Amino acid sequence: MKADRSKIVMVTAYDYTMARIVDAADVDMVLVGDSVGMVVQGLPDTLSVTLDDMIYHARCVARGLQQAHLTVDMPFMSYQVSPSQALESAGRLVKEGHAQSVKLEGGVRSAPAIEAIVEAGVPVVGHIGLTPQSVNALGGFKVQGRSEAAASQLLRDALAVQNAGAFCVVLEMVPASLAAEVSQALEIPTIGIGAGVECDGQVLVCNDLLGFDSRFKPRFVKRYAELESPMIEAVSSYVNEVRSGVFPTEDHAFHRRRGPRKVAKIY
Ligand code: KIV
Repeated sequence: MKADRSKIVMVTAYDYTMARIVDAADVDMVLVGDSVGMVVQGLPDTLSVTLDDMIYHARCVARGLQQAHLTVDMPFMSYQVSPSQALESAGRLVKEGHAQSVKLEGGVRSAPAIEAIVEAGVPVVGHIGLTPQSVNALGGFKVQGRSEAAASQLLRDALAVQNAGAFCVVLEMVPASLAAEVSQALEIPTIGIGAGVECDGQVLVCNDLLGFDSRFKPRFVKRYAELESPMIEAVSSYVNEVRSGVFPTEDHAFHRRRGPRKVAKIY
C-alpha cells in the first residue's frame, strides 16, 4: 500500500459489536489498543492494563472481523523485561487472543523484543513518538520530537524499529514535518495519530471519532459523529416510556397459545 501511495486506515475497537461496525466500514486494520484502559475501564492511563485484559478484548474483537487485519497492543510490562518475556506475551496474544500481529511501544530500546517476536513468525507494529506507557517518564501526554535532538532520536528510533523487522510503525503526536521526514526515510509504512497528513496511514480511537465522550476533544481528533447526546436521548426516552407505561406495547409482548399444544411428530 505504501508503494501504491494508498493510505492505510486503522481504528481501535474493544468489543464484538464495534468490531463488526468498523469492519463493515472497510477499515484496513483494527487495533485492540491498550487505550482500552482509559476508554473502557475509565483509568487515567494505560499502565494498569494486563495481558489477560488484552487477550479478553482481542478475542471479542476477533469474532466481529471478516476482512480487517487484527493487531493487538502488548500492555505495559508484558515485553519490557526481556525478549523472551516479549515472545511469550506475543505468543499468548496470538494463540489466545487471535491477534494477527502485535504492537509494542519504543524504538531503539524495544528493538531486541521486536526481533525476537518477528523471528518467531509474529508480525510486529512499532509505536514511537508519544508512547503512553512511558507517560510518567515523559511528564505527561505531550507532543514529542520538537527539539533538534529529540527529532534526531525519533528518526533513530524509527530506523531501529524497521531494522528489527516491524512491518509498520505508529507515530503518535509528533510534528507533521518530522512525521513526513520519517515517512520518507522508512521503507515500512508509518501510521500517524496527531502526526499530520504525510504519514502512510492514520489511526484514531473509535470512541473519539464517534464522539462518545463530549468532554474529550484533543486537537488531533476529528469527530465524524457526535453520538453522546443521541445515545443519552435514546436511553432517556426509554426511561420515560417505562416510567409512564408507554413501553412495552402489545407489539413487544408474547401471548399464551390457545387450544391444545401441538406435539412434535418425530416419525
Ligand atoms: O492504545 C491505542 O489506542 C493506541 C493508538 C492510539 C495508536 O496505541
